[in-house]
Amino acid sequence: MRHLLWLATALVSTVVAEDGLAGWLRYAPLPEKIAKCHAKSIPSQVKVLGATDGLPLASAVNELKLGLRGIMGKEVDVHSEGCLGDETPTILLSTLENYVSACGELDADEPPSLEEDGFYFNTKDGNVVILGSNERATLYGTFEYLSRLAQANFEAVEYVDNPEANIRWGNHWDNMDYTSSTHGSVERGYAGVSIFFQDNKIRSDLSRVAQYARLLASIRLNAIVINNVNANPITLTDENLEGVGRIADLFRPYGVQVALSLNFASPVELGDLDTFDPLDEDVVRWWDDMIDTIYGVVPDLAGFLNKANSEGQPGPLTYNRTLAEGANMMARPTARHGGIFMFRAFVYDHHLDHRDWYNDRANAAVEFFQHHDGEFEENVVVQIKYGPIDFQVREPPSTLFAHLRDTPMAIELQVTQEYLGQQNHLFYLNPLWREILDFDLRVDGEASYVRDAVSGKRFGHKLGGYAAVINVGMDRNWLGSHLAMSNLYGYGRIAWDSQSDSVEVIEDWTRLTFGLDRRVIDTIAEMSMLSWPMYENYTGNLGVQTLTDILHTHYGPNPASQDNNGWGQWTRANEHSIGMDRTVWNGTGFAGQYPAEVAEQFEHIETTPDNLLLWFHHVPYTHVLKSGNTVIQHFYDAHYDGAEAAQTLVPMWESLKGRIDEERHAHMLRRLVYQTGHAIVWRDAVNYFYHNLSGIEDEAGRVGSHPWRIEVEDMALDGYEKVAVTPPSTASRFYAVEAAPGSSEATATTTLGFPAGRYRLAVNYYDLPDGQASYEVHINGEVVAAWEGDYDLYLGNSKSEFLDGHTAARRWLGEVDIAEGDELKIVGRPDGIERAPLDYVVFLPEGVVD
Ligand code: GCU
Repeated sequence: MRHLLWLATALVSTVVAEDGLAGWLRYAPLPEKIAKCHAKSIPSQVKVLGATDGLPLASAVNELKLGLRGIMGKEVDVHSEGCLGDETPTILLSTLENYVSACGELDADEPPSLEEDGFYFNTKDGNVVILGSNERATLYGTFEYLSRLAQANFEAVEYVDNPEANIRWGNHWDNMDYTSSTHGSVERGYAGVSIFFQDNKIRSDLSRVAQYARLLASIRLNAIVINNVNANPITLTDENLEGVGRIADLFRPYGVQVALSLNFASPVELGDLDTFDPLDEDVVRWWDDMIDTIYGVVPDLAGFLNKANSEGQPGPLTYNRTLAEGANMMARPTARHGGIFMFRAFVYDHHLDHRDWYNDRANAAVEFFQHHDGEFEENVVVQIKYGPIDFQVREPPSTLFAHLRDTPMAIELQVTQEYLGQQNHLFYLNPLWREILDFDLRVDGEASYVRDAVSGKRFGHKLGGYAAVINVGMDRNWLGSHLAMSNLYGYGRIAWDSQSDSVEVIEDWTRLTFGLDRRVIDTIAEMSMLSWPMYENYTGNLGVQTLTDILHTHYGPNPASQDNNGWGQWTRANEHSIGMDRTVWNGTGFAGQYPAEVAEQFEHIETTPDNLLLWFHHVPYTHVLKSGNTVIQHFYDAHYDGAEAAQTLVPMWESLKGRIDEERHAHMLRRLVYQTGHAIVWRDAVNYFYHNLSGIEDEAGRVGSHPWRIEVEDMALDGYEKVAVTPPSTASRFYAVEAAPGSSEATATTTLGFPAGRYRLAVNYYDLPDGQASYEVHINGEVVAAWEGDYDLYLGNSKSEFLDGHTAARRWLGEVDIAEGDELKIVGRPDGIERAPLDYVVFLPEGVVD
C-alpha cells in the first residue's frame, strides 16, 4: 500500500510542461523507483551489426541511446561487431541475415520465420535480441523495445512480429501553392500549413520532416505520399524534384519511402505535348522519361498515387481510354524501378442528376472498376475509401472490396478528421476502422473479411494494405489537438495488425503520451471510446451520414446541403420520409453489389441494422425501428443523448488536472469546452431541421422549446440589427443579430423574468475569422462576464466567414446570481468582419443542458 501511495505521488509530481512535438516518442523518465528496480535488467552494452550512417540500423542505435537515456537514465556502450555469449548482457541489433552470417544460426527454439518488415524480439536470457528481416524492421523492433520500457513493461518475452500487409502508407494532401499566402496549404488539414512545401517549392528548412519520419517509423509506416491527390504538375520540375530528393533523404534513415501523387495531364501542363492520351506514343514516352528522371533523384521511391477522372481531375476517360489503360501506362515504367502504382477507386460523377431516384454515387466504384479486374499491371494497387461515399461517420464497407479478385487492393482511411469534427471534436477512430475491417463480405459464401481482402490474404495477392490521409501540419503538436494524435498512432497499429484492440491501443498510446497514471489512462480511454457513438448521435445517425455542410467546409451542421445537388451524398429527406433507397427491388440497386448473403441482408428493412437503416432504405419518419422508437423520435433522442454525452468530456478532462502537464491539459480543455458548445449547436440544428420538415413533435417536448433562453433579436437593440441566418436551423429561432456595419459598439437589453437564483450563464454567438469582437454581459449595470470571439485563433477547422453552423459557437460564462426584474445588457464591440454577432443567452438552472 505504501508503495502504491508513493507511486501515485511520484507520478503526479513529475508532470513537466510539454508541447506535443515528441508525440508518443517522449522517452519520459520512468518513476525513479521503477527505473531503479529494473535498471539491472537493461544491458549496458549494445552490439549493432552492419550499421551505415543514414540508414535505419544507425537510426535504431540513436533511438536506443536516446530512449534508454530518457526512460531509464541509462548510458550504453555501442560496438559495431560481435555476437552474443561473452557473458556481458547485450542488446543486439541486426538484420537476421547479417546476424546469421556473422554469428551463425540463431539459438532459438524455432528459427524465426520473418516476412518483409517483420522482426524477431527476445528479451529472455538477460540479452535483448532484435533481428529484423531488413534494416527498418530492426528499427521497428527497437521502437517496440523502447515502447515496452516506456510503459514499464519489463516482461521477458520472445516472439516474432510480422505485419499483416506490406503496404502501410500515409497520404498527405499538401499543396505547393496557396493563392492567399506564400505557405503551402493542406487540403483537409487542420493543423497549420504544410511541413513540406512553401512558396511553390520544397521548404528550405525541413526540420519538421525529420521529426515526422521518426514518428512514422515508430508506428511502422513504410511510405508516405507527400503531395495532394489533386496533384500539382509543378511538383515534377527539376527544382522541385531536387527538393523531393531532400525530403527522401530525411525519411530514408527511418525506413520510410517517399511517394508522389501524379497529375494525369502533366504531359500537357508541364511538358509541351498537346495530349495526355495514355495510348499516345509521345505521352507514353513522356511518362517513361519522367519516371526515370524521378527515380534518378530518388532511387528508392515507393511509387506513385493517382486520382484520375474524379472531381475535375484529368484521367484516361477524358480520351475514352479505360481506367486500366491509364493506370498501366504509368505503372509500367514504375515497375521497372520496383515501385508500386496506387490507383484510387474514388472515381465518380459529381454532377449526378439528383432527380433520378435510381442514380447513386455509391454505385460508382464498382461500376467503374469491376470490368477491369485483372487488367491492371502487377504493381497496380487499387486504393479504396473505406465506405462507398466519403469518410462519413457511418458507412457500410465499399462494395468494391468484394469485386476485385485479381487486383491487389488497399483500404483508404482518414486520420485527419474531415467530416468528423476536424480535430476540434474528439473522435477516436480505431473502433470505426475495426468495424469496417471486421465486416464479413461473404464472397462466394465464404468468410471474406475486409481486412483479408485488403491484406491480399482472401484473394491471394502478395501486395495489399493500408493508406491513410494524415495531413499533419506545422502546429507543434502535429494534428492540432493532442488527443487526435491517438489516431495517427492507432492507424499504425491497425495497419500492422488489423485485430489490434481499440482499448489496448488507446491505453498504450496514453501511457506513452501522458505517463503511467492509471486515472489518466482510464479517463482518456473512456473519453475516446465514447467519442464515436457520441459524435454519431449528435451529427447523423441511422446511417443518414454526417449531416455536415457538404457544399462548404464539411464541418458544422447543414442537413439541407446533402440533397438537391450533383454531389450524390443524398438523404432524400422530404416532408414525410427520409433515406436512400438502395434496394434492388425499388431503389438504386447498390445493396445488390454485395455478395448474395450480405445483399440479401441489406435488401430488407427487417434485416438491416438500425444504424444503417437510412443508408439502405427510404422510410417514413414514423417508421418504427427495431429499438421500438420511430425514426424521427430516434433522431431527436440521439441528438439529445449525443450532446449530453459531450458535456461529460469536460469534467472527465478536468479531473486530470495536475496529473497531466498544465500546457497540454489547458490546450485540450479549451477544445473540449468548445466541443460541448458545438455539440449543442449540432443537436439543435439537426433537430430543428427535421422538426420543421416533418412537422412531427418531439415526444419529450424538447425540440424548439427552450424556456431558459433569451433570443437576442427579441431584446431591445441599440446598434444591433436582426439578421436571418443561413442555414436557418443554425440559429435558435432562425435569427441572430449583428452590429450595424461601421459601428464600434452595439447593445441588447432586456428585463429578466426568471425566478431568483443561481444559474449557469452561457451565450451562443458566431465566431468568425479575421476579427476578435469583444463582448460584455452586464446585470443591473455591473459586468458579470466578458469574452472575445477568439475561437478562430486556436481552433483548426476550415474557416467560414458567415453566420452558419461552422461559426456558431457557445461560450460558457460561469455562474451568476439573478433575481426576477434584473436588467440584462450585452455590449458587443465589433472587430474586422466580426460584427459582434449574437444568437441567444441562456440561464441554466442546475442540471439543465440547453
Ligand atoms: C473529398 C475531399 C476532397 C478530396 C477528395 C478525394 O471529397 O473533400 O478534399 O480531394 O475527397 O479524396 O480525392
